[in-house]
Amino acid sequence: VKRVTTNVLQEMKNSGAKISMLTGYDFSMARIIDSAGIDIILVGDSASNVMAGHETTLPITLDQMIYHAGSVVRAVERALVVVDMPFGSYQGNSKEALSNAIRIMKESGGHAVKLEGGIEIIESIKRILTAGIPVMGHLGLTPQSIYKFGTYVVRAKEEGEAQRLIEDAKALEEAGCFAIVLEKIPASLAETVAKAVSIPIIGIGAGNGVDGQVLVVHDMLGINNEFSPRFLRKYANLYDIMKEAVESYIEDVRSGDFPNQNEQY
Ligand code: KIV
Ligand code: NA
Repeated sequence: VKRVTTNVLQEMKNSGAKISMLTGYDFSMARIIDSAGIDIILVGDSASNVMAGHETTLPITLDQMIYHAGSVVRAVERALVVVDMPFGSYQGNSKEALSNAIRIMKESGGHAVKLEGGIEIIESIKRILTAGIPVMGHLGLTPQSIYKFGTYVVRAKEEGEAQRLIEDAKALEEAGCFAIVLEKIPASLAETVAKAVSIPIIGIGAGNGVDGQVLVVHDMLGINNEFSPRFLRKYANLYDIMKEAVESYIEDVRSGDFPNQNEQY
């Protein structure tokens, strides 16, 4: 199989082909997602919520992200694997940001990193790029800043923040980012950004005027049944399917139906 590279993604934007992206945190799920033909698997720091049960993405550590990323990389034959740099691993000190990005690349085998923020983290982004590590940006609702925002509502509804977001996107492109995630902003603003920069814009809750879409895989598969924002389309209800399967197993064990003659040695 031909691997998806940052060049392939740029060609997709140039030709108007939409880019598909999902999160992945473990080997088994990544195998399914990759064999279905996804373009990008994001080892998101949403692992902090989805995998570890934390309320925010802030607690997950660099070592934990590397563990998840390595598990995904071992499963993947085609997709580009992008790894989130966790909170505290890139802000403020660009030398530390570079050494942490290098750790992710060396220890997990991931293909690129993603950082939340614009002009305020541009030094870290530039320094990581000097090592030949591809960087994906992330603007709009940036969950690592949740305690600054105070809520998970739509970002950049007012003119000032919208203007800053466009400037941040241009700065990320100028610095050399290969793509940008836009999270939970008005569709019209996301479309404006996708036209204002030449690199791919991947949206989540950012409408259809962008170059690709990303969702958290546990949300779109309906494994997590406690999260139903407007932007989420659920493609399955695996919570119910899995729960019913487990209930059947329990029933069969208790009744003595499992194992039967054919299921023993
Ligand atoms: O961590 C994550 O899942 C993300 C996506 C929502 C873009 O950053
Ligand atoms: Na993230």
